Amino acid sequence: MEGKTVYSAIQPSGDLTIGNYVGSIRNWLTLQEEYDCYFAMANMHAITVRQDPAELRRRTLSLAALYIACGIDPEKCALYVQSQVPQHAELMWVLNTVTYVGEMERMTQFKDKSRKHADNINMGLMDYPVLMAADILLFKADLVPVGQDQTQHVEIARDIAIRFNNRFGETFTVPKALIMKQGAKIASLQDPAKKMSKSDENPNASVFLTDDRDTIIRKFKRAVTDSDDRIVVSEDKPGISNLLAIYASFTGKTTEECEKEFEGRGYGEFKLAVGETVADKLAPVQEEQKRILSDKTYLHGVLASGAERAFKVARKTISKVYRKVGFYQGE
Ligand code: TRP
Repeated sequence: MEGKTVYSAIQPSGDLTIGNYVGSIRNWLTLQEEYDCYFAMANMHAITVRQDPAELRRRTLSLAALYIACGIDPEKCALYVQSQVPQHAELMWVLNTVTYVGEMERMTQFKDKSRKHADNINMGLMDYPVLMAADILLFKADLVPVGQDQTQHVEIARDIAIRFNNRFGETFTVPKALIMKQGAKIASLQDPAKKMSKSDENPNASVFLTDDRDTIIRKFKRAVTDSDDRIVVSEDKPGISNLLAIYASFTGKTTEECEKEFEGRGYGEFKLAVGETVADKLAPVQEEQKRILSDKTYLHGVLASGAERAFKVARKTISKVYRKVGFYQGE
């Protein structure tokens, strides 16, 4: 396992939810101890759907501060903003030429987003997986920690890497998705059949990391459950199962322990306990994020050195790729 490289990114396109927290960021904390890690703010991916420019800029910094507040150590990892490393776009262009339109049209997320943003099916939206492949392949990542919904994109990155290597000779490491078990399946509080999403139209569906205590408790109070009153994990009780999963991941207890704890108690009491636990756990992270955001010199410094670290590696890769495809690079 020694010496492996990990790459992941989050789009600064909406406020993060507790699903992103337990499903992504928190898992990265253990990875940074063992691997060479790159974590990016994927702002180039974000503009494949319309963004307000000022909001995008604000969210990019806010996300960086959040990463650090959660415990991502910028001394250990390269924490950077995707658009500050121009090789992402450069590699994407080359990879575009070994990717087929047909396979992009068949991507699940492309089809979903095309439906959702029917008035803005832009080239970038279709090219999104190629940009993501470029992110991963630039750093020769071995492992890509992602949620279930991104595994198809990692698959395509693998296909593209293999295809390029076959055509031009050994160049890229073929990456593997690292599917996060814990928290990977935190569902919407309003429709437990759906994943909790940062872009859900129903504001009660998702608990955001920026929500204050009262809001968090209120959202959990309103969470959809069912009419029987047992607090157990069960396929026919998706709402309660989801709340148990959230409670378990915020307390570090097993779901069985949580079931025992609430045996014989009512839904009202249970929901309040989940809400309070989540609010208590998030409070210090929110405090720390605020503190970091107010220290702009520090934050800009972290992002500058992250970008510099990423740039050095990316420049080597792109130079090798340009050589392989026959691009003139001067003397
Ligand atoms: N598409 C990913 C998401 O929305 C974010 C992302 C961009 C990413 N580039 C990446 C994830 C590279 C892993 C590796 O969640």
